[in-house]
Amino acid sequence: MFGREIIKGLIAEAKLDREVTVCGWVRSMRGNKVIKFIALNDGSCVSGIQIVADTEKFDEATLKRIQTGACLKVTGQLVASQGGNQSCEIQASAIEVLGDSDPNEYPLQKKGHSMEFLREKAHLRPRTNLFGCILRIRHNMAIAIHEYFHQHGFYYFHTPLITASDCEGAGQMFQVTTKNLYDLKKDENGSIIYDDDFFGKMTSLTVSGQLEGELGATALGQIYTFGPTFRAENSNTPRHLAEFWMIEPEVCFYDMEDLMALEEDFIKHCVRWALDNCREDLEFLNKLIDPTLIERLEGVLKESFEHLPYTKGIEILQEAMKNGKKFEFPCNWGDDLASEHERYLVEEYFKKPVIMTNYPKKIKSFYMKIDDKKPIFNGQEMEETVQGTDVLFPQIGEIIGGSVREESYEKLMNEIETRGIPMKDMWWYLDTRRFGSCPHAGFGLGFERLILFVTGMQNIRDVIPFPRTPKNAEF
Ligand code: 4AD
Ligand code: MG
Repeated sequence: MFGREIIKGLIAEAKLDREVTVCGWVRSMRGNKVIKFIALNDGSCVSGIQIVADTEKFDEATLKRIQTGACLKVTGQLVASQGGNQSCEIQASAIEVLGDSDPNEYPLQKKGHSMEFLREKAHLRPRTNLFGCILRIRHNMAIAIHEYFHQHGFYYFHTPLITASDCEGAGQMFQVTTKNLYDLKKDENGSIIYDDDFFGKMTSLTVSGQLEGELGATALGQIYTFGPTFRAENSNTPRHLAEFWMIEPEVCFYDMEDLMALEEDFIKHCVRWALDNCREDLEFLNKLIDPTLIERLEGVLKESFEHLPYTKGIEILQEAMKNGKKFEFPCNWGDDLASEHERYLVEEYFKKPVIMTNYPKKIKSFYMKIDDKKPIFNGQEMEETVQGTDVLFPQIGEIIGGSVREESYEKLMNEIETRGIPMKDMWWYLDTRRFGSCPHAGFGLGFERLILFVTGMQNIRDVIPFPRTPKNAEF
């Protein structure tokens, strides 16, 4: 038996003057010929623990092997700390080097490394204080999410990762095949024949679990999914990953007001959870990354989110332009908003999270419920709108995309046909509208975008252990 104790627990309990054993990695070292101070970290908390070693108690060979990055097992007395910031430290009586580390080769040094450098060392960056914080918060957010839905009577519903349908219809899917790509069977028109492929048809990695999620909801009443999704969109931005995790609740007997209330309550629960359960890590990030982080998180809890119809949003943006505000992209009625527009509304105009609703039908997905009335803009009737609800956050832009679902078989069928979505892939989805169709709604929260917000980090590549982006699948 190793009999090691976890450092976080040791510090929290602070039962002093007893023998303890800890294991971990050397973060740094200082001292002189007589005494060495070793910062040991086992990943359980940002502080780690200080090991004090009187050099006369240890042989020369062992002392030499205590280097940055090495893995140690240390036994000793847990005592009140002599100085410094910590409550306790360990007076070592035995040190065993479990794994050596060559300090000349170990890439992580005490000096601050750039985020770009650390991305290239993604196999080791979890060992830095910064990434330790981020990854512990990431874990806590996953727990907060399951906790929320479990407490509110939602069932965790597992949807497939391999699929033959494109939920978002944006054509950004990664294909899945066992076919020999050097020798593809094609028909007379040059189209690939899939009957000899593993699934006997063209399949891809899912962009969203929503369509199957709706099947779950229309049986269990309310479900949520929480899994990886994949998008081959070639957007090299600080907000996009090719592989990201999404949480997708789907709820029956919900209208747009219900949906927006759930979106707001759910995000606030997650933020509150971080403030209540990740204090030490947040304080570290507040010091190192962003001095307004904790204030911003607390601010979100105090505000009620602004509900803003798209048409009103365009009016505000155009008014701002009249008053001299410059945007890179146009924002006429019918345009998809760029992140600069979203951020203007959230950060400058309302100064709080915004839920934008009732978007033009043509810029949203086929499944969204069509509004009864067309909006009036500059005195004119515009095109049809849908009951989509995007939650826009400071610093992040879109963090949630959701909608009420079109429950009418005829209207949905009409959308599928006019958008040219292959019907044969959709029959099972349409059955929900044929047998006991019901009003229902749901949304998707981008997990990494939530982690970006909660940690104050700037780049989505730095809130997932091993990011997948265009031209990058290392590790
Ligand atoms: O707005 P999206 O595309 O909505 C859907 O997929 C719906 N099926 C969700 C639903 O109603 N069940 O994506 C939802 C969220 C976005 O708001 C964003 O937070 C995140 O997923 N997201 C991404 N996150 C990281 N990288 C990407 N490439 C992302 N694309 C979307
Ligand atoms: Mg969206």
